[in-house]
Amino acid sequence: MTTDPRADFDLEQIDRLLTTTKQVRQRLDLTRPVPYDELLECIGLASHAPMGGNLERNRWMIIDDPDKKAAIATRFAEVGRPYLAMNSEVRGDDRSQRVIGSANFLVDHLAEVPALVLALRLDPAPLAAQGAAAAYYGSVLPGVWSFQLAARARGIGSAWTTFHLEHEAEIAQLLGIPPTVTQVCLLAVGYYTGSTFTPAPRRPAEEITFLNTWKAPVR
Ligand SMILES: Cc1cc2nc3c(=O)[nH]c(=O)nc-3n(C[C@H](O)[C@H](O)[C@H](O)COP(=O)(O)O)c2cc1C
Repeated sequence: MTTDPRADFDLEQIDRLLTTTKQVRQRLDLTRPVPYDELLECIGLASHAPMGGNLERNRWMIIDDPDKKAAIATRFAEVGRPYLAMNSEVRGDDRSQRVIGSANFLVDHLAEVPALVLALRLDPAPLAAQGAAAAYYGSVLPGVWSFQLAARARGIGSAWTTFHLEHEAEIAQLLGIPPTVTQVCLLAVGYYTGSTFTPAPRRPAEEITFLNTWKAPVR
């Protein structure tokens, strides 16, 4: 008797998790702290994401000190505000405007977000070689997404951000991070309010997948 390979998991629930783990900004509960135990559990789960050579060179930092959050928020806004204003001018469609509005909210409120979670890698980023860069970031970023999934399943929302990276050196100094360590992503983390997340429209798999030859359709 063969067993159904799809029977091992509750696919409906898992697919819902995968499609409704959104970047949460306006629905972050700014008044409710997130316990360290919850964050550590999500980081523990994220550590099961793949990494090149199975080398555990990723690190995380939780930042909830109000002064440090405020300092990061200032730098974040210096980059985010003009970037979003420029994007708002060139991307007029409703969907883009909604994301830009939401991102602006985060720019305005980053210092109030209960926890900022910084994803780090222990060595300097390769600057030129494409393959090395892919392996480098590919060994850290899957864990960030796993963190977001694990958090969502616990009622915790997060938003992936990178604006502060233009001031990476200054923020490293603020947080005591050595110059050899690279910041790859700053997650704004808090419990979310309401649970009515819906999947975003995405191009169908058939449209973005080719079979054996560039642009050859799968079906
Ligand atoms: C590499 C990367 C960088 C991002 N940087 C930012 C950022 O600095 N600020 C922000 O508000 N959102 C940022 N985002 C979130 C995207 O805007 C978001 O994923 C996209 O709009 C799709 O929304 P969804 O994930 O909720 O479907 C980033 C996402 C990724 C993957």
